[in-house]
Amino acid sequence: MRIVLLGAPGAGKGTQAKKLIEKYGIPQISTGDLLRAAIAEGTALGIEAKAYMHKGELVPDEVVLGMVQERLKQEDCKKGFILDGFPRNTAQAEALDRLLLELGMPLGAVLSVDVPFEILMKRLTGRRTCRGCGQMYNVFFSPSAVDNTCDKCGSGLYQRDDDTEETISKRLEVYKIKTAPLMDYFRTKGILKRVSGDGSIDEIFSRVKAAMDLE
Ligand code: AP5
Ligand code: MG
Repeated sequence: MRIVLLGAPGAGKGTQAKKLIEKYGIPQISTGDLLRAAIAEGTALGIEAKAYMHKGELVPDEVVLGMVQERLKQEDCKKGFILDGFPRNTAQAEALDRLLLELGMPLGAVLSVDVPFEILMKRLTGRRTCRGCGQMYNVFFSPSAVDNTCDKCGSGLYQRDDDTEETISKRLEVYKIKTAPLMDYFRTKGILKRVSGDGSIDEIFSRVKAAMDLE
């Protein structure tokens, strides 16, 4: 399984990727998660990325491409991978094509998770993430049993810095202008599949599996 999860901020890319990992054991490569880890570690790359992410803008292509290239060459990606949040513009998509050709690992499918824009703001402002295990919650849709505490591991929950209304609006605008055109890019290649991302997490997971012909 070599797939790209495409979708607006808050569409549920990370949520569905985690379900795919649990069921199929394929690694998730989330450029957003890799960048947040670099910020937390205080690396030069993290310091550069932080200013862009804080404003809701895309981090420069060369920064992200270097990270993805390094990650895709790791041993665990030989059994497949789920790219989440990458590529995000045409230049990244073209660079990915070249890289995968070089590695002899062509994409099987690009899955677009489509959610009406009016739902996305609530999903993002309500998101809380576990500091320990990364489990995601939502104060409106799927709250943890005890406030600010992870049901799975008991660690505290945090809210992402870029989940403010102002930054979310910018992220949604960047998505419309730069990322949404990738649907045509991958449609032309004949590998685009679309599922509605409106409904329960499990309903959407069933649609994802059906779209990918998975059991
Ligand atoms: P990134 O981390 O990729 O964020 P994003 O694309 O904005 O997407 P999100 O992670 O916010 O949403 P998601 O689709 O994963 O939704 P989730 O499953 O969490 O990128 C962040 C920033 O990093 C970018 O703005 C950019 O600056 C930079 N960056 C990253 N990649 C880059 C690249 N390739 N190039 C350049 N810059 C890059 O779900 C959201 C919430 O909804 C959660 O609370 C969840 O519990 C809830 N939820 C999920 N599904 C459902 C459902 N069915 N019903 C109800 N609630 C649901
Ligand atoms: Mg995500």
